[in-house]
Amino acid sequence: MNRDQINKQLNKLPTHAIVILTMVIWAVPTLGLLVTSLRPPEAVGSSGWWTAFTTQRTAGPYETYCAECHGTDRKALPQADLTNPELIAKYSRSLQLLALLRQDINGQPHMGNMPLPTAQEAADIASYLRDDDQANSRFTLNNYIDALVGYRGRSSYTADCEAGTQPPDLKCNLSDILNPRGMGRAFINSLFVTLPATFIPILFAAFAGYAFAWLDFKGRFLLFALLVGLQVVPLQMTLVPISRFYAQTGLNGTFLGVWLFHTGFGMPYAIYLMRNFLGTLPRDLFESAYLDGATHWTVFRQLVVPLAMPAIASLGIFQFLWVWNDLLVALVFLGGTTPVMTYQISNMVTSLGSGWQVLTAAAFLSMLLPMIVFFSLQRYFVRGLLAGSVKG
Ligand code: HEC
Repeated sequence: MNRDQINKQLNKLPTHAIVILTMVIWAVPTLGLLVTSLRPPEAVGSSGWWTAFTTQRTAGPYETYCAECHGTDRKALPQADLTNPELIAKYSRSLQLLALLRQDINGQPHMGNMPLPTAQEAADIASYLRDDDQANSRFTLNNYIDALVGYRGRSSYTADCEAGTQPPDLKCNLSDILNPRGMGRAFINSLFVTLPATFIPILFAAFAGYAFAWLDFKGRFLLFALLVGLQVVPLQMTLVPISRFYAQTGLNGTFLGVWLFHTGFGMPYAIYLMRNFLGTLPRDLFESAYLDGATHWTVFRQLVVPLAMPAIASLGIFQFLWVWNDLLVALVFLGGTTPVMTYQISNMVTSLGSGWQVLTAAAFLSMLLPMIVFFSLQRYFVRGLLAGSVKG
C-alpha cells in the first residue's frame, strides 16, 4: 500500500466510524426488543434483557418449599401429581393454596416442620404450577402466541380460551389465530392495506413521470409546478372533508378508501421523483426508439421500467414503510373494525399495563416485514438515494 492509498483509507475512517456507530445504536435496542419478546413475563418484570443469557433462573419458591416432597419434576407423589391440570385448577389462587397447606394430611401438617410460604410466595408458586413448562424456561414463544391470537397476557388466557380451566394448548390457540383482537388478523389487514397502497401510486407515478419527462403537451410545466406545490398540503387538513365524502359514497371503513387516500398523498412526491429521474435518461435513447416506430407503451415497458428500477424500488420502499407504519389514516378510515398492526399496537399500549411483554412481541412482529423489505431492496435503495443527484 503506498502513501496515497493509506491517505485515502484514513480519509474514509470517520465515515466508517459513523456508519458503525449508527448501526450499533440501531441494532442494540432492536436486539433488546427481540430478547425481551422471547422471555417469560416473570423474567421480563424482574431483570433486564441482557441478563437473559448469563443468569440462571433462580430456583423460585416452589423449589424452596415444595420440591423436597413433591420433587423438582412435581410428580414425586403419585397421589398428588402437581402436573395434573385438574388438580392444579383447584388451587389456582394463592388463597386456596395457602388454605390447603394449612390443612393436615394424615394427621400431619402438610408442610411438615417447614414454615408456610408467604402470600406473595404462594402466589408465585400458584402461577408457577398453573403455567406450562414453556413459561418457566428461560425463553418462550408464548408472548408471540399471545400477541398473534390477541390475548392480554397469561392471566386472562384461560378466560379467553373456550376450554376454560384447561391449560392453554396449541389447538386452542390455532382456533383463535384470526381473532380480530390479535396480531395475526391485523397482519393480514396490514398487508391488504399496504400492498395496493404501494403499488397503485407508483404505477401511476411512473406513467405521469414519463409523460412529464418525455411527452410534449400544453401546460406541462404549469401542471408539474402544481404537483410540486401539492406536496405541502398536510394530510391532516383533508381528514374531515374526505371522511365526509367517504361517508356519502360508502367508502368509509373499506380498504378501497384507504388505498385511494394513500394513493392521493403518495403520488405528488412519487411523480416528482420519477420525472426527475426519467428526465436524466439520455434523450438519444428515446428518440431512436421513436424513430424505430416504437409506441409510447412499448418505450415505457421496455425502456423506462427497466431503467427506472432503482427509482421505482426506492419509492417502493418509502411508500411501503410509510403506509405500513401509518396509524392516523388507518385509525380514521378503518378504525377497530378492520384493525391494522399499528392500530393493534396502540391498543395494547393503552390496555396492557403490566403485560407489556406481549407488546414487545407485537412490536417485533410488526417490524419483521419492513426489515425484510428493506434488506432485500437495499441495493436499489442506495442507488435510488442518488437518483437525480448524479447525472449518468
Ligand atoms: C413435607 C412434605 C410436603 C411438602 C413440603 C409439601 N407437600 Fe404437598 N403434599 C404432601 C403429601 C404427603 C400430600 C398428600 C398426598 C396424598 O394424597 O397422599 C400432598 C398433597 C398435595 C396436594 C394435593 C392436594 C389434593 O387436593 O389432593 C397439593 C396440591 C400439594 N400437596 C401442593 C403442595 C405445594 C404447592 C407445596 C409447596 C408450597 C407442597 N405441597 C409442599 C407432602 C408435602
